[in-house]
Amino acid sequence: SRLMSTGRTQSPIPVITVDGPSGSGKGTISQALAGQLGWHHLDSGSLYRLLAYAALQESLDLSDESALTALAKRLSHAYRLPTQDNPAIELYGKDVSDALRTEGCADAASRIAALPAVRVALLAWQRHYRQSPGLVADGRDMGTVVFPDAVLKLYLTARPDVRAERRYKQLINKGIESDLPSLIKEVEARDARDSGRKASPLKPAATALVVDNSDLGEAETLQQVLDAAHAVL
Ligand code: C5P
Repeated sequence: SRLMSTGRTQSPIPVITVDGPSGSGKGTISQALAGQLGWHHLDSGSLYRLLAYAALQESLDLSDESALTALAKRLSHAYRLPTQDNPAIELYGKDVSDALRTEGCADAASRIAALPAVRVALLAWQRHYRQSPGLVADGRDMGTVVFPDAVLKLYLTARPDVRAERRYKQLINKGIESDLPSLIKEVEARDARDSGRKASPLKPAATALVVDNSDLGEAETLQQVLDAAHAVL
């Protein structure tokens, strides 16, 4: 076509991916990174949590792939993720943000996330958030599967005890009751399931910059990540 004949290839909307286990700080860091760059932010875990929450509400069997993918189809127009002017996650117009943060919902999310058909059903949802001027996407497989052409792939991690303690503080801050010993067990079980599954297991992308922030504060981690972003942008 005439448009193609100029020889210019249109560069795609840039994506920075931030993957890592729970409590690695990827949510906080990617939100701050998106804020600094003026880009959109996708918390892909919230999509798995939304689907899990709806499945629990409907008492679906959490291993029934076809029921879950049918549910995903029905939900695709029923949810909204946070925007700058409204931080709430909504399902059928109801704010479900707090319900999604519970460990019960996280556990159900990680169960359904092991099912290949569920992951495929959520692919289009996730790619929809790739909008100008750019996207910071956090999750488990953002760099490996969902946005393989990302301009920068980060993998945030921290020692398991540090991550469990962070999760503990997050939950307490939200007024969700929790105790550290059982949280450590839950976080370990979820990590094992996320890393051990066949479908898009949690692992750093081949080219990922791995940042272990066990002994780094939030500001220091953000600075490392910003430096890496500015080096490629
Ligand atoms: O990140 P978050 O803890 O909210 O994710 C909840 C669960 O959703 C994870 O334990 C994981 O099993 C699943 N998940 C995933 N792939 C993603 C994001 C989340 O499998 N990209």
